[in-house]
Amino acid sequence: MPRTILVTGGGTGMGRAIAAHFAAAGDHVVITGRRPGPLKDTADAIAGPGTVRALVCDHTDPAAILRLAAELPDRIDVLVNNAGGNTDFDADGATDLAAYARDFRANLDANLVSAAVTTRALADRLAAGGAVIQIGSIAADQGAGAYGAAKAGLASWNVDLARELGPRGITANVVSPGYIADTEFFRDKLSDERRERLVAATATGRAGAPADITGAVAFLASPAARHLTGQVLNVNGGAHSTR
Ligand SMILES: NC(=O)c1ccc[n+]([C@@H]2O[C@H](COP(=O)([O-])OP(=O)(O)OC[C@H]3O[C@@H](n4cnc5c(N)ncnc54)[C@H](OP(=O)(O)O)[C@@H]3O)[C@@H](O)[C@H]2O)c1
Repeated sequence: MPRTILVTGGGTGMGRAIAAHFAAAGDHVVITGRRPGPLKDTADAIAGPGTVRALVCDHTDPAAILRLAAELPDRIDVLVNNAGGNTDFDADGATDLAAYARDFRANLDANLVSAAVTTRALADRLAAGGAVIQIGSIAADQGAGAYGAAKAGLASWNVDLARELGPRGITANVVSPGYIADTEFFRDKLSDERRERLVAATATGRAGAPADITGAVAFLASPAARHLTGQVLNVNGGAHSTR
């Protein structure tokens, strides 16, 4: 039976790859993002047999999430809280204390509060046997200012969510990527030198690809992973180990 999958931030990068995977499996996928352009391009480009529907939503805005919820079906099988990124890339460079606080909160809003509020708004519709999957980051374990703190908070909040949803037969896990190429994450701010360092840190000797993340998300959403919840699944080519 086709499932309904919501992939936040599904217009580009990993979210786009995740949406394409579920659509190829025959599921009904909804993708969201703030910019209509990439959403439409992605919805047009992804082939079936499933469907892809694009809806504009800023997941840092509770009112926008309520408007999104009104457009969504009553049953959601899989929620992928993928929207986010390091908002410092878009900061204006101001260094006073008020700007520091504003920029810090922007990362918390984009990566942590967005996922929590989206999940809260849709919690009643999550179906038994379903899954909530957060896209975390290696930055949670390695430190990356407010961005890393936000992703670490995401993993902590996910533990609580797993306990809340577990009795309903719904799992909650974090997929935590290392460096993944072919996304808009770094804008134009990734130097060749930093890219080489990120690849050199892996055991696999390569950058991750969006398809690497898709595989982990698909597994966590599958019947094979029904007793796997409250966990962080690191997908980083060995760049960081929990052992
Ligand atoms: N690429 C990496 O190396 C890497 C590593 C670890 C973790 N991650 C995480 O992976 C996730 C996916 O990022 P990506 O690498 O695939 O980069 P990406 O191509 O920039 O994708 C992020 C997507 O999220 C959307 N988005 C951002 N803020 C949003 C908001 N407030 N409301 C709705 N949509 C929003 C963006 O679209 P709009 O701008 O149109 O809203 C974009 O489509 C992010 O959570 C990121 O932090 C990335």
